[in-house]
Amino acid sequence: MKVLMIGDVIARGGRRTLSKLLPGIKEEFSIDYVIAQGENSAGGFGHTLETTHEMIEAGVDVITSGNHVWDKKAFIEDLSKFTVPVIRPLNYPEIAPGRGAIDLGPIAVINLIGRVYMGEFDSPFTQVDRLLSQGFGKGKPVFIDFHAETTSEKAAMGWFLDGKISAIVGTHTHVPTADCKILNKGTGFVSDLGMVGAIDSVIGIKSEDSLSRFLTGIPTRFNPVNEGRMMFCSVLIEVDEKTHLTTSITRVDRETFI
Ligand SMILES: [Fe+2]
Ligand SMILES: [Fe+2]
Repeated sequence: MKVLMIGDVIARGGRRTLSKLLPGIKEEFSIDYVIAQGENSAGGFGHTLETTHEMIEAGVDVITSGNHVWDKKAFIEDLSKFTVPVIRPLNYPEIAPGRGAIDLGPIAVINLIGRVYMGEFDSPFTQVDRLLSQGFGKGKPVFIDFHAETTSEKAAMGWFLDGKISAIVGTHTHVPTADCKILNKGTGFVSDLGMVGAIDSVIGIKSEDSLSRFLTGIPTRFNPVNEGRMMFCSVLIEVDEKTHLTTSITRVDRETFI
């Protein structure tokens, strides 16, 4: 089985890049399932029903999220109703709307958020351990998007879950890392998928907006870059049909012009 995991899709430019490139990539590699990070899909901040449908239309099966999941208030209701295949980090308080994992039948997907430089969340280690102990995803490939800032927290989680799930990938930094590997007990790992967003930007945001905040310390509005040179960052994971462990994990990164 082949699964493609795509980094944070940033705003309209990211969605257009996704729609332009994903169908061809799916065909080229005979991909069975696609998981994409959507926390920045709506104007750079959060999700809407429209951006969600656009990503599904492009060929995405499951959309994961992160710290921006609550940015568009209207979407919280859609998350609560479970009407769309969008999940939010599992280790938000249990009372929070939405779900932290989804079982599609042939595969299961879990979303986690880190704590280092990220915020006050339940332990992602304890929460994922509890979910897996309850039998979630048993007997099928399980893929995890660990939305976290530091490479050390992501690496530690990789070793914590080695042999217990098919693969774990990091997201949130929007910068692709060159460390795809299969851990000792067969779990696929990469520190960060990267993003689907503008190359000429600061992690998807107009460089002048970001620079102004760094130079003056004054909070400014962040506008995404929606045109020009775009990067499409993803990782292709192939899992064994019997063991559900990873047999290969490779980067699939593309550039295009929107
Ligand atoms: Fe993001
Ligand atoms: Fe994030």
